[in-house]
Amino acid sequence: MLAELGRQASGEIVRLPAGPSPVYLFSHPDDVQHVLRGNWENYRRQGMFWRPLQRLLGESVLNDGAVWQSSRDILQPLFTARYVTTLAGEMAATVDERIGELEGYAESGHSFDAGEEMADIVNETVIKVLFGGRLSREAGRRLSPAYDRAARSIAFRLFMPFMPYSVRLPGDRAFMDAVEAIDDVVLPMVRGALAHPRPGRDVFSVLCQARQGQGNEERQIRDDVVSVYGAAAESTATTLTWLWPLLDAHPQVAARLSAEVEHVVGTGPVLPSHLPELRYTKMVLQELMRVRPAGWLFPRVAEREDLVRGVPIEAGAQVLITPYATHRLDEFWDRPEDFDPERFSPGEQERRHRYAYFPFGGGPHQCLGRHLFHMAAPLIVAAILSRFRPVLRGGGPFTPAPAGSLRPREKVELGLLPIRRGER
Ligand code: HEM
Repeated sequence: MLAELGRQASGEIVRLPAGPSPVYLFSHPDDVQHVLRGNWENYRRQGMFWRPLQRLLGESVLNDGAVWQSSRDILQPLFTARYVTTLAGEMAATVDERIGELEGYAESGHSFDAGEEMADIVNETVIKVLFGGRLSREAGRRLSPAYDRAARSIAFRLFMPFMPYSVRLPGDRAFMDAVEAIDDVVLPMVRGALAHPRPGRDVFSVLCQARQGQGNEERQIRDDVVSVYGAAAESTATTLTWLWPLLDAHPQVAARLSAEVEHVVGTGPVLPSHLPELRYTKMVLQELMRVRPAGWLFPRVAEREDLVRGVPIEAGAQVLITPYATHRLDEFWDRPEDFDPERFSPGEQERRHRYAYFPFGGGPHQCLGRHLFHMAAPLIVAAILSRFRPVLRGGGPFTPAPAGSLRPREKVELGLLPIRRGER
């Protein structure tokens, strides 16, 4: 609906008939840039759309103001392109080992729920490396379904953000149960990390080094860990889940992708040195995030009144930004509904408005994990395609369901065929 409204208005600002305070949809890249970068300090991550999430995230890098700044300053050095590159060897080896475990599906012919399997793969690779192994496999397997329940059960609150908490909505109970389940896993890990601090450069160790002795450190570390895990695991797994239905619907793209992986990786294992050569893989992932941006809604509240391209925006107004709408504007995208990775061939991006495409947001709140994603996702995709030919079993069409992230409403059931030499 938001995408359709943005499109009908050709990117002009739309006032939505919702709730007691004014709500605006901004989809034009100039307006997105104004909110995320130009006048970002006036547009805060708070208000009725953020409130439901706060019960899970607490006070963290996903907030705003001084709390956000202090967490961002602590975490930033762990996410620079240069630092992330130092993790590539360990991550590639972990990915290779974990994808090897999928052999069982190929041998038995059994299919699996791609959403669940991608979440587990992300836990075992990206999260394991990021959290320095402090998150055991067993803990990850309890966390992932709890976040899943939280992301699904929050949908009612996102659609009725103005509803007071004294009024119970469907999903409220499930959401609070999910928060409790997440705390049951995370709090003992935080206590363990505080009791046995290590000099490492993983998220836990760095947060402990920075927060120890500040008072209230258990809560501060818990909030940042829960937020970073939520931001990293859910969005990465959702994006990878969408890949399979889209490849199934676009066999030429799938064939070219497999050909690239065969050429670059061969029979494996996938190595960090393959990454610069996996150019088409990167283009496919970029186009995937255009049509299915996992982070689909960035709500903000205008602190003071503003004038945006001639439209007065009142203090206290809610401003909604969604890449799902901007990524589909006819004024900026040719055939926006077509899945076409060529849009991201070298040189194409430079010709576009910087804010016509922003799956990782922009400005001071830009996603910390984008370099990590661009390293982990091609490694995972290449490791899978170097060993197997994935086949979708039934289902479809797959429709985007707006939950905490933009997931397929239907279960994506996937089978794996082993690749025989010369058959690809
Ligand atoms: C497909 C994968 C991902 C997508 C689509 C994504 C998307 C986003 C977006 C859109 C924002 C900005 C939100 C806003 O402006 O309100 C964001 C922020 C953030 N992301 Fe990601 N993200 C992804 C992966 C990751 C990973 C792997 C990590 C960490 C390991 C991560 C950590 C963060 C953090 C900490 C923030 C908050 C930054 C701040 O406000 O200073 N993300 N992400």
